[in-house]
Amino acid sequence: NWTTGDILEEQVERIRAQVGDSRVICGLSGGVDSAVAAALVQRAVGDQLTCVFVDHGLLREGEAEQVERDFVAATGVNLYVANEQKRFLDALEGVEDPEAKRKIIGREFIRAFEEAERAIIAEAEAHGEKIRFLVQGTLYPDVVESGGGEGAANIKSHHNVGGLPEDLQFELVEPLRTLFKDEVRAVGAQLGLPAEIVGRQPFPGPGLGIRIVGSVNQERLDLLRRADAIARAELTAAGLDNEVWQMPVVLLADVRSVGVQGDGRTYGHPIVLRPVSSEDAMTADWSRLPYELLARISNRITNEVDGVNRVVLDVTSKPPGTIEWE
Ligand code: XMP
Repeated sequence: NWTTGDILEEQVERIRAQVGDSRVICGLSGGVDSAVAAALVQRAVGDQLTCVFVDHGLLREGEAEQVERDFVAATGVNLYVANEQKRFLDALEGVEDPEAKRKIIGREFIRAFEEAERAIIAEAEAHGEKIRFLVQGTLYPDVVESGGGEGAANIKSHHNVGGLPEDLQFELVEPLRTLFKDEVRAVGAQLGLPAEIVGRQPFPGPGLGIRIVGSVNQERLDLLRRADAIARAELTAAGLDNEVWQMPVVLLADVRSVGVQGDGRTYGHPIVLRPVSSEDAMTADWSRLPYELLARISNRITNEVDGVNRVVLDVTSKPPGTIEWE
């Protein structure tokens, strides 16, 4: 009968045995898996670990701060931050096709990560040290799935910023390889990670970039971030975080409709709410959220977010709809 404490101790021992006194690098995405993997490695080998956070500017409100401030405060980890917001905006300029956006974000992410990697390697070499290991937040279900995985299920090109392509110059440290998601969350809580990180619902690697139907720009990102923050805050305030698997909030940037506000006519964009219930994201049903909650979210978004004059609810199951719109 294993406790979370036992799991933690066992993983810490394993990491120490594997890593010895070598240096380690780990990418943080803002998600649960990379955060817990990094915190475990930090617990095991302390300052031998350097974490890298590529801020692509496509995260939701508060998420970059959760990594840069709260995660660092909770773990004391060495963090290298690459502020790459402009790089991603430039690369995405004018691109509307969902797959093209995904590919660009994935490509730029790898490039940005590799640049950060080179800077850290150079810093280590200046101290006569070598980076030998790369941490990956691979979970047990990922290990099982990759037996056959991807191929058939690869309807959209998935990219996970926590897990990078296997970089042959490094040996991998995979401290979550034997764990399920709920165990990962429990270990994270035991390690003292912030509840916002440990309890975070799934969020795609390409982030808000694939929740803007149309091309991505700063103004659209800001607008979507406001709407998303309102929707999430109201869901949490209603105590319903556990009722939904996730709730993408999507901006239909290429659609406009007529509205009326105050004594004027508006011509604004719709925001889509996509709350879903699911076990594993392979299939999903739309969540029957209370009308009062939906009304509150709608009122707040249309009142508080300039440029949005309509909020619509996605009532499509998966299949045929996917959870994300792109
Ligand atoms: P779909 O939209 O295919 O999404 O029904 C299924 C689940 O996967 C998440 N998702 C992603 N996660 N990188 C990720 O790490 C991605 O590129 C990506 N695309 C979709 C989605 O949020 C849902 O939980």
